[in-house]
Amino acid sequence: MENIKTTVSIPEQGLEREAVLEELRRRKAGDPDYRAPRTFSLVYYMGEEHTQFIQEAYNLYFSENALNPTAFKSLKNLEHEVVRMGVDLLHGGETAVGTMTSGGTESCLLAVKTWRDYGRAKHPLNRKPEMILADSGHVAWEKAAQYFDVTPIRVPVGPDFRMDVEGVRKKINRHTILIVASAPDYPHGMIDPIEALGALAQEKNVPLHVDACLGGFLLPFIEAAGTPLPLWDFRVPGV
Ligand SMILES: Cc1ncc(COP(=O)(O)O)c(C=O)c1O
Repeated sequence: MENIKTTVSIPEQGLEREAVLEELRRRKAGDPDYRAPRTFSLVYYMGEEHTQFIQEAYNLYFSENALNPTAFKSLKNLEHEVVRMGVDLLHGGETAVGTMTSGGTESCLLAVKTWRDYGRAKHPLNRKPEMILADSGHVAWEKAAQYFDVTPIRVPVGPDFRMDVEGVRKKINRHTILIVASAPDYPHGMIDPIEALGALAQEKNVPLHVDACLGGFLLPFIEAAGTPLPLWDFRVPGV
């Protein structure tokens, strides 16, 4: 960014379209090249042909407003199908429902808001509600805790880098509105011991949310391809 002059007010003189595009190309020239395999976890590039295909699909809906599904009915229908397919993939069963979010962080935000509201309605608290998560839990959960006024209680991971179930047990109290585990976690790629956590959640009557931002659309296919994995989705009682 060294040779880029920061403009702080809208310039008097406009630019021709080609000059705007040229300026954007110049600005991004110093950014990492996502086509080279050095931006894993930031960009999942699968080749030019595939990229052009998804750009074309995206552009088909570039201007439609998903905030108004009553006007843009096909978007409502697409959302419904994606949610149903997701439920099916994660074994949610007939009664499971869902909603489309803008990505991982919004999904974390909605989970914390939902369980905080549920906790409040079920047993009104005189203290700030708490949620328990491992040190390996994604930073988006801290954001969710701040937005919705919940205290995040971190527990260390064990020597295998997975959430320590006994550590969680020690932190549960009547202010606990949620346990968050990951499948897998962002820093290490480890799947937390979801079955043991599900059993603990049921024993203590505390909700357990599995953060599958990374694994949700990956682990089911690894399993289907024949690699045995520990259970982590809605098949686990307590999730
Ligand atoms: C496990 C996990 N949770 C949450 C997030 C946040 O997702 P996003 O960056 O899409 O907001 C990520 C992102 O990598 C993640 O890996």
